[in-house]
Amino acid sequence: MEGVKEEVEQVSLPRIGSTAPDFSANTTQGEIRLSDYKGKWVVMFSHPADFTPVCTTEFVAFQEIFSELEDLNTELIGLSVDSISSHLAWIRNIEKNFNTSIEFPVIADLDRNVSTKYGMIMPEESSTETTRAVFVIDPEQTVKSIIYYPLTTGRNMQEILRLVKALQKTEEEKVPTPANWQPGENVLVPPPKTQQEAEERSQDDSLECIDWYLCKKKAE
Ligand code: BEZ
Repeated sequence: MEGVKEEVEQVSLPRIGSTAPDFSANTTQGEIRLSDYKGKWVVMFSHPADFTPVCTTEFVAFQEIFSELEDLNTELIGLSVDSISSHLAWIRNIEKNFNTSIEFPVIADLDRNVSTKYGMIMPEESSTETTRAVFVIDPEQTVKSIIYYPLTTGRNMQEILRLVKALQKTEEEKVPTPANWQPGENVLVPPPKTQQEAEERSQDDSLECIDWYLCKKKAE
């Protein structure tokens, strides 16, 4: 509306490539600091509220990928603005109903310290709940990927696993990965920067080239 300025709180939110803001927080496994996780990959995710249907299915599904993430040197951290008692009661309820023991810490962000720093509350959707955000953070604590889903859509754990594997492959071999890439499949060759590079790759029999700018190669 003309003449009316919406007041928007100016918070500098993490972006891909920026340093993940450090925090200390109370969790179901005691106090944690993000900086304690240096040297490991972290998947930190928020959910809207304890004891809700989509979130419950997600918690069971996150636990199902917990060990595989651990094998990838990756720690899971959950978060909502619910209290520790609520988290504990919900976790016990999940154990009873699904025979699933939640092994990752869940932040009780009652003062919204972490969710505000990470832009997890989207007031246009809900001012009282965190949306379904996922932050993938690398061992140097750089934000590598951010995913947002609305309150009503449960996340796909296989995609989160695939994303971590793809990010790690890129970090290890400095190569991009194509659409739907899975471990073991060919990776992409970064686009050529010079005419000479473009010419050279068209002569390179070890590459599988569709065109001068689109070549695949075996992963190491
Ligand atoms: C759910 O987890 O089912 C849910 C939570 C908040 C809003 C809508 C759905």
